[in-house]
Amino acid sequence: MAFCDLSAVPGAPASWALPQDFTCVFNWEFAPERSRLLGLYERGKTMQWNANDRIDWGQELDAENPLQLPPGALPINAAPCYQRLPAREQMEVRRQHQAWSTSQFLHGEQGALICASKIVQQVPDMDAKFYAATQVMDEARHVEVYKKLLEKFGVTYPMTPPLRSLLEQVLRDSRWDMTYLGMQIVIEGLALAAFARIRDEAQNPLAAAVNAYVMEDEARHVAFGRLSLRDYYPQLTAAERDEREEFLVEACALMRDRFDAMELWAHLGLPVGECVEHLHASGASAAFRTRLFTRIVPAVKDIGLWGERVQRGFERLGVLEFANVDIEALQENDLAAARDLEARQRYVRSVAAAAE
Ligand SMILES: [Fe+2]
Ligand SMILES: [Fe+2]
Repeated sequence: MAFCDLSAVPGAPASWALPQDFTCVFNWEFAPERSRLLGLYERGKTMQWNANDRIDWGQELDAENPLQLPPGALPINAAPCYQRLPAREQMEVRRQHQAWSTSQFLHGEQGALICASKIVQQVPDMDAKFYAATQVMDEARHVEVYKKLLEKFGVTYPMTPPLRSLLEQVLRDSRWDMTYLGMQIVIEGLALAAFARIRDEAQNPLAAAVNAYVMEDEARHVAFGRLSLRDYYPQLTAAERDEREEFLVEACALMRDRFDAMELWAHLGLPVGECVEHLHASGASAAFRTRLFTRIVPAVKDIGLWGERVQRGFERLGVLEFANVDIEALQENDLAAARDLEARQRYVRSVAAAAE
């Protein structure tokens, strides 16, 4: 069956055409050559991988709980409207929520692919163009793996409105740093926290591997955004930085709201108001919504957009406490987790092959 025929929403558009108006910059100096950015470029080149070789696509998802996640991963798990459903319907809601969530990962990855290629054209510095070129390849691979994973669900969902709205803002903006800020810092920072949940909690080996290997690459992408913006923002005026801070606070709120999944509950015929009210009030969902900011807040502090506007915004979101998270330690952990999982899966496969 063609991929577009898997859509849960009949008649969903097959493409999205967004007019662009920005300046593309050639650099004849081939400068600057910042060692940390070039180091990241070297890592980007040497750490490429082939999804067909590295992942065993013969593995299947579970029929009832595709990613084999714990019950609490469904944000309305304890809501009365969900609890009242017969077991069979509960299973279906869980399956659809996982397909919806994986669809958003796929759409976010295509957004990252488009944004990384926009950065290659827009950014004035050659070292940043070099690195962004490796990210384009990484993001193509991420689109590839989430598409393959989603095909195994047999059902897909369109892009959620909050993600679409932020992507549209970022892509329509002609300033190169806004692409970084929206994509590398906000969308990717939040995605990393969401991927981590699947990597660490999914018992399904295919889903865990896809998320771990994608995270291994994403750690470099967020580092790229931080290194580039950290050099750039001190050069801006206070008014220009204020404007970025305002955008940042709004973008964070928008991205947090995307996890409310309002259109999904409506599609499944569940009472949207009750579902959203529940997931805002429930301790487990609220903790997850807060954890989503673990990586964004320290990255924002690091790039120097740390004025009163941003701090107040993060305080309102209840996430200011993450300001002192050691983001480099988290990134090292992402690399180690991918290596460990790969070694474990290779061992399991070798034992199974020896037993045949
Ligand atoms: Fe990605
Ligand atoms: Fe990325």
